[in-house]
Amino acid sequence: MPAFAMRKRWLVASLWTALLALVGSPVAAQAPSAARGQTLFEARCTACHSLDANRVGPALRTVVGRKAGTAKVYEYSPGLAGAKHRWNRHMLLAWLTDPEVVVLGQRMGYRVEAAADRADIVAYLSAQRKKPDYK
Ligand code: HEC
Repeated sequence: MPAFAMRKRWLVASLWTALLALVGSPVAAQAPSAARGQTLFEARCTACHSLDANRVGPALRTVVGRKAGTAKVYEYSPGLAGAKHRWNRHMLLAWLTDPEVVVLGQRMGYRVEAAADRADIVAYLSAQRKKPDYK
C-alpha cells in the first residue's frame, strides 16, 4: 500500500476517535447523578426543606410518588392543597423549572435554572424512596 494511503487511513481513524470522544463525553455528563443531586439539595433546598420534617416547606423524603400537597401536618397554600397530580419525575422537573406553571397560586418562591441540576436533584429525591419512581 502506498504511503499516502496509509496516512489517509490513519487520519480517518484519528478523526473518528476524536469525533467519538466529542460525542461520547456530553452523553456521559448528562446521566443524572443522585450523588451530585444530594450536594445540590443540601445547598439549595435545605434552607426551606428537610427530608423528614416540615420546615418552611414540607418534608420531602417520600415526595416521589406522593400526591401533591399531602405531607402530614403541613399547611399548604390553597393552590397546592387543591392540586390533583402525583409527584413523579416529570412533574418534579417541571415544578423546579417554574412552580407557578405547575400549580397556580403555589407559594414556593424558588426555581432551579439549569436542567442538569434539576435532573440530579430529582434523581436524589427518587433515591430516597424504597421504590424509585422514574415515570
Ligand atoms: C425559599 C424556600 C424554599 C426553597 C429554597 C425551596 N422550596 Fe420547595 N417549597 C417551599 C414551600 C413554601 C413549599 C409549599 C408551597 C405551597 O404550599 O404552595 C414548597 C413545596 C415544594 C414541593 C411540593 C411538595 C408537596 O408536598 O406537594 C416540592 C416537591 C419542593 N418544594 C421541592 C423543592 C426542592 C427540590 C428544592 C430545592 C431545589 C426546593 N423545593 C427549594 C419552599 C421552598
